[in-house]
Amino acid sequence: MMKTIRKAVFPVAGLGTRFLPATKALPKEMLPVVDRPLIQHVVDEARGAGIEHFIFVTGRNKAVIEDHFDRQFELEVTLKERGKRGDLRSLSQDLPGPGTTSFTRQQLPLGLGHAVWCARELVGNEPFALLLPDVLVKHNPGCLAQMIAATRNLDGRANIIAVEETPLSRIHMYGVVGVGKPKGKAFSITGMVEKPAREAAPSNLTITGRYILQPDIFDVLEKQETGAGGEIQLTDAMIQLSKSQPFYGLKFDGRAYDCGSKIGFLAANIAYALDRDDIAPALLDEINTLLAKR
Ligand code: G1P
Repeated sequence: MMKTIRKAVFPVAGLGTRFLPATKALPKEMLPVVDRPLIQHVVDEARGAGIEHFIFVTGRNKAVIEDHFDRQFELEVTLKERGKRGDLRSLSQDLPGPGTTSFTRQQLPLGLGHAVWCARELVGNEPFALLLPDVLVKHNPGCLAQMIAATRNLDGRANIIAVEETPLSRIHMYGVVGVGKPKGKAFSITGMVEKPAREAAPSNLTITGRYILQPDIFDVLEKQETGAGGEIQLTDAMIQLSKSQPFYGLKFDGRAYDCGSKIGFLAANIAYALDRDDIAPALLDEINTLLAKR
């Protein structure tokens, strides 16, 4: 049996250059999908999976993320004065409890593997979840909850990665896994490659930005050399670790939106808005009007 997954790491140090100028002064993780910042959606997913400690690897210009996960007394007083009880209640529900968030800085943009390594002291010696805030998975139960459920059939030293089918034309943008024997809802991973050319991809299953990793990954990352794009790649460290520990893939239920791309971000906004009774009818009217004019 695997130890309980109590801690989740959120790498939020990325520069967000694909969304300039919106991300010049605003962290990309604070861009809203409908009315919740991307990072709030991902923290919600982790809370829904039973995570108790939320570790953010931040960087320069990211201080508002820390502010977002704190109380805002002026706002609370004003809402109270105006009798906005519903807003007050949801603000407090959205907030992880006191002492359950930690923030550390990546200092230099050396890649995802390096960002994860920066969380080593805060994670300590236990398996942990890693959620990339660029990716939103729309499903209930959430992707991480499905992964944690899948660990119940796996041995205590297993690592597990959420994967999804991706068209070959986009495969070079992701990490790709090789598919081995099924194990419950998961399958054993036979190989991994970061951002392969289409011809070199071992399958059409890409790594979706949700991981459950053993703490041994930190020892590997410590020595990891730069890989694709001149960055310290998490995938390369996982390849190394897979020589001594099992890795499994899980094709989760639900649709992933890659909000690191403009189309994925816009699609997520529409999908999440169409799920809201207070927004969907008016939004559909707008969409139909726009489509009729094309
Ligand atoms: C990262 C990972 C990649 C994964 C992707 C998911 O890449 O390195 O394996 O498929 O996230 O979004 P990035 O998007 O940071 O280039």
